[in-house]
Amino acid sequence: MTAAGGPGVAGRHVLVTGATSESGVAVCAALVAAGAHVVAVGSNAERVAAVAARVPGVATEVCDLSDSAAVDALALRLLAAGTEVDGLIHLVGGWVGGAGIPGQSDEGWAAMERSFRTLRNALRSFYPALVTSPAGRAAFVSSVSVDAPTASGADYTAAKAASESWLRSVAQGFAKSAPDAAAVIFAVRSLVDERMRAAAPEKTFAGATDVGTLAEAVVGLWNAPAGELNGRRLVLE
Ligand SMILES: NC(=O)c1ccc[n+]([C@@H]2O[C@H](COP(=O)([O-])OP(=O)(O)OC[C@H]3O[C@@H](n4cnc5c(N)ncnc54)[C@H](OP(=O)(O)O)[C@@H]3O)[C@@H](O)[C@H]2O)c1
Repeated sequence: MTAAGGPGVAGRHVLVTGATSESGVAVCAALVAAGAHVVAVGSNAERVAAVAARVPGVATEVCDLSDSAAVDALALRLLAAGTEVDGLIHLVGGWVGGAGIPGQSDEGWAAMERSFRTLRNALRSFYPALVTSPAGRAAFVSSVSVDAPTASGADYTAAKAASESWLRSVAQGFAKSAPDAAAVIFAVRSLVDERMRAAAPEKTFAGATDVGTLAEAVVGLWNAPAGELNGRRLVLE
């Protein structure tokens, strides 16, 4: 138990899905530093290998998370090998915008639906393992645009709203049958990292959330009891 009453992340097995961006590296690094066993998952072998090089101690898997059969196979393989899954931190994102409502393209919506599908696939395939864990945690990063959708971001925000709804359904499932598990939504306006700051030193990135803040919040998921976290939407600033 942590001082705050949570089970603590040390020794937990955490899957970070969509782990190859700067937010993924920050989350994986913070989890490893806190003593977790981390599996970083991405669809591109080279980018996944780059995460392993930047975060010593991380294990990796290559999987197209939009392919439900591939995600089922990954879950079966990991669980058959004895890998426990105490956490699923889903970071697959992407963004599309268009010129107002008429500018919402079918191509853009297909990309957003695909991104939503990765979340649905991952949560569905790993749900049984999270329920069995003594400290299951599931989280993804939504957007504050869900609170105030714009015409130009209609497709993007609709997919995020669908993802939030799915997470809340998972939370209801946990509340019913897994009192030690929690599903949490993080919401940000945008994310910023050191590479972005270095590339544009003149920019203030006002309103952006540092990927380090996100990483800290992920580790913190195990520092509070599940009952205090389950179903919550936490805006990270
Ligand atoms: N960036 C922002 O300003 C912002 C704002 C609001 C919310 N968010 C949310 O915060 C989260 C993290 O953001 P981010 O910008 O770091 O994410 P991202 O770069 O859009 O996505 C993270 C990773 O997901 C992987 N991915 C994409 N499709 C995949 C698939 N089919 N299977 C497996 N992996 C796949 C990509 O790596 P590979 O191509 O290597 O697989 C990518 O590096 C996302 O949910 C995002 O929507 C971000």
